[in-house]
Amino acid sequence: MPILRPEIDALVSYEVGRPIEDVVRQYGVDPATVVKLTANESPFGPFPGVAEAIAAEASLQRYPDNQVWNLGGRLAEELGVAPGNLLFANGSTAHIADFASAVGGPGTRIVYAWPSFIMYRYAAAWAGSEAVEVPLDPEFRVDLAAMADAIDDATRLVIICNPNNPTGTIRSGDEVEDFISSVPDHVLVLVDEAYAEFVQDPSYRSMSRIAVDQPNVVTLHTFSKIYSLAGLRIGYAIGHPDTLTGLRKAQQPLTVNRLAQAAALASLGQPDELARRVEANAAGRHYVAGAIEERGLAHVPSHTNFVFFKMPGGDSQASGEAMTRQGVLIRPMAGGWMRVTIGTDDENRRFVEALDAVLGD
Ligand SMILES: Cc1ncc(COP(=O)(O)O)c(C=O)c1O
Repeated sequence: MPILRPEIDALVSYEVGRPIEDVVRQYGVDPATVVKLTANESPFGPFPGVAEAIAAEASLQRYPDNQVWNLGGRLAEELGVAPGNLLFANGSTAHIADFASAVGGPGTRIVYAWPSFIMYRYAAAWAGSEAVEVPLDPEFRVDLAAMADAIDDATRLVIICNPNNPTGTIRSGDEVEDFISSVPDHVLVLVDEAYAEFVQDPSYRSMSRIAVDQPNVVTLHTFSKIYSLAGLRIGYAIGHPDTLTGLRKAQQPLTVNRLAQAAALASLGQPDELARRVEANAAGRHYVAGAIEERGLAHVPSHTNFVFFKMPGGDSQASGEAMTRQGVLIRPMAGGWMRVTIGTDDENRRFVEALDAVLGD
């Protein structure tokens, strides 16, 4: 008798990327020179003041504040919302899984685009819902019309990743708003805005204003990307207080640890630092996308801190392995596509050198 539910048994365990130690062992490369561009992490350290705030958080024998009171109050002020419009989690990945299990379950369907953030697939399986994966449009954007068509009476959750990971594309604020207005009230719309801070296109708009007022809309945000706190695990949702009070019942208690709360709080109120990082990313993205284009490779114009591009030959696993041998780790995707995260200037140069070495093989 199998122990696991069949939908769990069918999953492949999620791997965030190959550990650097593994690469060092296999190829004998110097660990200090390995460049990791696999997980859309920030190449920069945390914001100024964060290390000191973590060091000052000495009461580790105490459970964290389950209400996330200090951080919640400060962030609400910064965002111009009420503290009741915010719900924190141990990374927005946790929110995705918890919200899917709160609204899904056997006999229900969860709709999201594909390819998109792989965690949606896991969340649907964990919840016991049927996953409905709607292909991207020919420009690798979330196909909102097709997503709307895919919603039926059994649908409980629709997830819009905007910008979309792994393709880096956006839908405009107007387009997402139109889509939201077409979704029936019984369906929760989750708009995952993990990469929103990187977007410079004026047509883009966060849906957080709508989420504050409309009970079936929630936006997701993370401190893992622009705020460089991926290692601490903290994200937050913006929504209507009644909706968040309900969704909170599906959360583990004490989900955001003390260090994460202190670090996120210390990161706030630094708009110049934030802007500097957005600009550095945009310059790096311009360089990386330009280098890919100059080499005649197909790529998708990106609004994020990563670029989706295609290697010749169609075997992205082999191309990824060949780049790994050069000490540069990027993410192979299906169909010959690859995703490279924007790094520091040096890391971006290393990526281009490794790309040239592989293309020249
Ligand atoms: C679209 C998207 N949402 C959420 C996350 C995860 O965020 P967190 O680190 O807060 O769990 C990622 C991380 O890669 C992502 O790509």
